[in-house]
Amino acid sequence: MSITILGIESSCDDTSAAVVRDGLLLSNRIANQDVHRTFGGVVPELASRAHQQNIIPVVDLAMKEAGVLPTEINAVAFTQGPGLMGSLLVGASFAKGFSLARKIPIIAVNHLQGHVLALFIQRPSSVFPPSAALTQPGSQSNQPAFPFLCLLVSGGHSQILIVRNYLEMEIIGQTIDDAAGEAFDKCGKVIGLPYPAGPVIDRLAKEGDPLAFTFSRPRISDLNYSFSGLKTSFLYFLRDQLRDDPDFIRKNLNSLCASLQYTIVEILLNKLRQASKLTGIKEIGLAGGVSANSALKAAVLAEAEKRRWNVFIPALAYTMDNAAMIATTGYYKYLKGEFAGQDVVPLARM
Ligand code: KG4
Ligand code: ZN
Repeated sequence: MSITILGIESSCDDTSAAVVRDGLLLSNRIANQDVHRTFGGVVPELASRAHQQNIIPVVDLAMKEAGVLPTEINAVAFTQGPGLMGSLLVGASFAKGFSLARKIPIIAVNHLQGHVLALFIQRPSSVFPPSAALTQPGSQSNQPAFPFLCLLVSGGHSQILIVRNYLEMEIIGQTIDDAAGEAFDKCGKVIGLPYPAGPVIDRLAKEGDPLAFTFSRPRISDLNYSFSGLKTSFLYFLRDQLRDDPDFIRKNLNSLCASLQYTIVEILLNKLRQASKLTGIKEIGLAGGVSANSALKAAVLAEAEKRRWNVFIPALAYTMDNAAMIATTGYYKYLKGEFAGQDVVPLARM
């Protein structure tokens, strides 16, 4: 008998639904919320209202695209957290209602575990690309082998994990303050870029000089990250420059982006290199929204050449928040019988 999972993601500002059957992704629909752009960041109250409007049409579209009827769904997986409480509540309430109506189990998924398992999203072989994970040329498989190291970098998290199995992972390093995506977004806001600034910086940096300006780097022990010092250093640098030339940002926008991006990538790569040395693991995965960054991908692939790493990066659609990763995680939890009850609650922190 085949196993069909409906996945729901609503942790932040994207409402997404996906259908996975026997580990293969049949559909993945995302409704983005443009409403936050003008505010320079996600407004939680507006996010939860938009989720409420979007959730039913998005689920409907995902099921239609998959060619699956509600009666064919074996379990509903939803993002339990971490995330914005109001946003999470919409996904959790939908999952509970759907589970009650269809008399099927609920599966609670950790959003971060979902990002990691984006590396295992598989499309049916008839659909191109056949797999979500891209590797450097010459690699034998399109999925990382266990155990592997995962650099999980998003708007809310920056972590290095040892992934021992689909559902077994250990955090060996993480940020003590801001996340890498936050560093992109907050510094971008300072130079007048729209939210989220990460992809815009990525684009503008292509025309800039990454070595034009230097910003302070954290001196922090272990495998942990810190990005708040970089943000302050960026801010003070601009304040000083703007005193001499009020047009400094406009004149140097591309190189400011390139130098900022270069610094963030260096910080991320440094600890990843250390983690690989310490653990002896050369199987490396990237995950989370920031793993879409072209300079990060290029730097990790260049490092892979030098150090004989096998690198795995999800296809762009699965680096950002999406329900495909939640449905895929739900599938592996289903196989292990890890179900939640109707009393399950969303958790802003996990
Ligand atoms: O994983 P994600 O979609 O949501 C969270 O769980 O946080 O990540 C969103 C983050 C944002 O901070 C965004 O600026 C960043 O990922 N991001 C990028 C790029 N694309 C998205 N950062 C740098 N370069 C990119 N190309
Ligand atoms: Zn995320």
